[in-house]
Amino acid sequence: MTNEGKVTVLLSGRGSNLKALIQQQRGYRVHHVIADKADAGGLAIAREANIPTTVVTRAEHPSLAAFKAAVLSAVEATDPHLVALAGFMVVVQPEFVHRFHGKLINIHPSLLPHFTGLNTHARALEANHREHGCTVHFVDTGVDTGPFIAQARVPVHKDDTAETLAARVITQEHALYPWIVRNIIQGGIQLKEGAVRYSPDIIAEARALGYTTFE
Ligand code: GRF
Repeated sequence: MTNEGKVTVLLSGRGSNLKALIQQQRGYRVHHVIADKADAGGLAIAREANIPTTVVTRAEHPSLAAFKAAVLSAVEATDPHLVALAGFMVVVQPEFVHRFHGKLINIHPSLLPHFTGLNTHARALEANHREHGCTVHFVDTGVDTGPFIAQARVPVHKDDTAETLAARVITQEHALYPWIVRNIIQGGIQLKEGAVRYSPDIIAEARALGYTTFE
């Protein structure tokens, strides 16, 4: 693969999903990482893998709108086939969503539509849910909303803490996200007329892997 399957990853933090995406890159290539924090752990992971990075911070810009426009420009400059948000703590502007329609995805640590936003593991415990997990979805203009692509589910154990539950979920994130990125790049998963479409092979694979799909 030369210039195909270019994935730009946006993050704000430690970058464990980035690491999983890099380690499992087959059929796609993480070719650029963009962060809004100069000290994001994910930047070190990118540099170690010789992946170019760009930092765009809120502090460098006079307004939130100018910052968000700069984020979009930085992403456009990388000319990606797919943009993967991986712990990017910025709500991207509607213009970004429209510009990358069908090419902008996010991973969230809950079984959406339950628990959008933060502290999802503690909230799942608090709500006494017996099942928890993670969701990958196409991004729309809301927060943690947009057409769901797939979910990986985990059981909630009686003695779980937010930490033990988070550890069980993140293991699933690290398998689910590379699988989805690969299959969007290879065309087995597509957004068409607002709905997620899967090839028959993908449905079968998802079933075998225990992932929930949304036909
Ligand atoms: C993950 O739990 C992801 O689902 C959420 O933010 C977290 C990022 O973790 N959107 P990491 O930086 O990939 O380790």
